[in-house]
Amino acid sequence: MYLQHFGLSEAPFALTPNTGFFFALAPHVEALQVLQVALQTGEGFIKVTGEVGTGKTLILRKLLNELPPPFRCAYLPNPCLSPAELRWALALELGLKYSANIDQQQLTCLIQQQLLALAAHGHSVVLVLDEAQALPDESLETLRLFTNLETESRKLLQVVLFGQPELDERLARHELRQLRQRITFSYRLRPLTEAETGAYLEHRLRVAGLDVDAPALFERSAVAAIARASRGIPRLINVLAHKSLMLGFGQGAMRIGRKQAQLAIRDTEDAARSQWPRWLMFVGLMGTAAVFGVLVTLRFAGGLA
Ligand SMILES: Nc1ncnc2c1ncn2[C@@H]1O[C@H](COP(=O)(O)OP(=O)(O)OP(=O)(O)O)[C@@H](O)[C@H]1O
Ligand SMILES: [Mg+2]
Repeated sequence: MYLQHFGLSEAPFALTPNTGFFFALAPHVEALQVLQVALQTGEGFIKVTGEVGTGKTLILRKLLNELPPPFRCAYLPNPCLSPAELRWALALELGLKYSANIDQQQLTCLIQQQLLALAAHGHSVVLVLDEAQALPDESLETLRLFTNLETESRKLLQVVLFGQPELDERLARHELRQLRQRITFSYRLRPLTEAETGAYLEHRLRVAGLDVDAPALFERSAVAAIARASRGIPRLINVLAHKSLMLGFGQGAMRIGRKQAQLAIRDTEDAARSQWPRWLMFVGLMGTAAVFGVLVTLRFAGGLA
C-alpha cells in the first residue's frame, strides 16, 4: 500500500474507533466533559447522540478507559435486547454468578443486591449502551426502573445512552416521557468544520508516523473538497482520505491535492458530489431568464412588424 511511499508506519485512516488516534476536537472534548460532570453529579440518565460516523463509539471507549476507579462500568455494545436479555447481560457485566433456572424476579433481586454491595464498597456503577436507538421500548422501561434504585444519598445505577438521532425521535414520543424527563444531561455531536477537518487529517497522519517536520500532506484545496464532500463526518473523512492517499500513491504524488480528492469523492457513494455555488446557480438562472426574455421580445416585435 501507500504507507512506505508517504513515510507512515501504520494505516492512518482505518475505520475502527481506535482511541490511540483520538484527536481532541471541540465537540468530542465537550461531550466527554458533559459525561464526566454528569457522572460525578450522580445523574440517572445521560445521553449522547450524533449522526452515523460522528465518533460516538470512540468517545464511549475513551470514557471507559478514563473513568477513575470508584466508577465501575458495565458495557453493552449491542443493546438489541429484550428486557429479560438485558437483565441477564447486566447481571453478567456485574460479575454475578447465577443458575440458569432462576426467574426474572429473582434475577432483578440479585442485581439489586449486587448494586447495593458495590455501593457499600464505594463503587458507582455505570451502565453504558452503544447503539441505544436499537433498544426496544420495553427495555428502555426496564432501564428506567433500574435507575429508580437508590441509597439515601445516591443512585445505585447510572445509565449512559449513545445513539443515532433516531434515539431522540423515539424519546420524543409520549409513551417515553417518563424516561425523557430523567435525562438531565445530554449532548448532540456536530459535524466538523473545514479547519477541524484539516487538523483532524494531519493529527491522524502524525500518529500514523508521518515525520513531524514534514509539510502538511493534504493541500488546502484537498482539505476543502474533503470537508465539503464528507459533510464533516469523521468516518467519511477517513474513507475519502484513504482513497486520496491510494490515488496519490498510484500517481507518484508526494502531496494530496484537489485532483486526488475529487477522484476519491467521485468514487465514494455517500460523499456529497461537488455542487455549483448557489450564487453561481442564481447568476446562471438569471442570465438564462434574461436571454429568454430578450428572445421572446424580439420574436414579438418581429411578429408585430
Ligand atoms: N475525535 C476523533 N479523533 C480521531 N478519530 C475520530 C474522532 N472522531 C471520530 N473518529 C473516527 O471516525 C470514525 C467513526 O467513529 P465511530 O465509529 O466512533 O462513529 P459512530 O458515531 O459510533 O458511528 P455509528 O453511528 O455508525 O456507530 C472512526 O474511525 C473513529 O476513529
Ligand atoms: Mg458506533
